[in-house]
Amino acid sequence: MAKNLNRIGLDKQTSSELAEKLNELLANYQMFYMNARGFHWNIKGHKFFELHLKFEELYNDSLVKIDEIAERILTLGFTPMHSYADYAGISKIKAAKNVSSGTEAVKEILKGYEVLLPLERELLEMSGESNDEGTNALMSDYIREQEKLVWMYSAFLHE
Ligand SMILES: [Fe+2]
Repeated sequence: MAKNLNRIGLDKQTSSELAEKLNELLANYQMFYMNARGFHWNIKGHKFFELHLKFEELYNDSLVKIDEIAERILTLGFTPMHSYADYAGISKIKAAKNVSSGTEAVKEILKGYEVLLPLERELLEMSGESNDEGTNALMSDYIREQEKLVWMYSAFLHE
């Protein structure tokens, strides 16, 4: 095995840059996840049953992605961040507290995607340039799914 390659045959230096960016995505996703849980719990109003379920779907999906991102970092040979203090320190998505209006919650979710999608596109580009197909495929799946969700949540707001 060449010295500058890691155990899956990718360049160590570019993998380290990718892992760092993946940790940034992980931190933001953890905040996004916790916000979705809060919306699920605290939502009120005539759309309660619909949104309570929708937000549950969203946080469950976020949990799957959080695990995939963390395990991708490990696969690349690095350590995923694993404390909420660290997440809060670097996440651009901030904690949304006491949101009980459906409209507000959906706006917060859309604001979250405004952070997640550009990060994922950066990762898509970086991984494409370094032939990291594993990270690349993961990012392209996330981008496609989330772009569709942005359409749906925007339609909910009549936008
Ligand atoms: Fe619940």
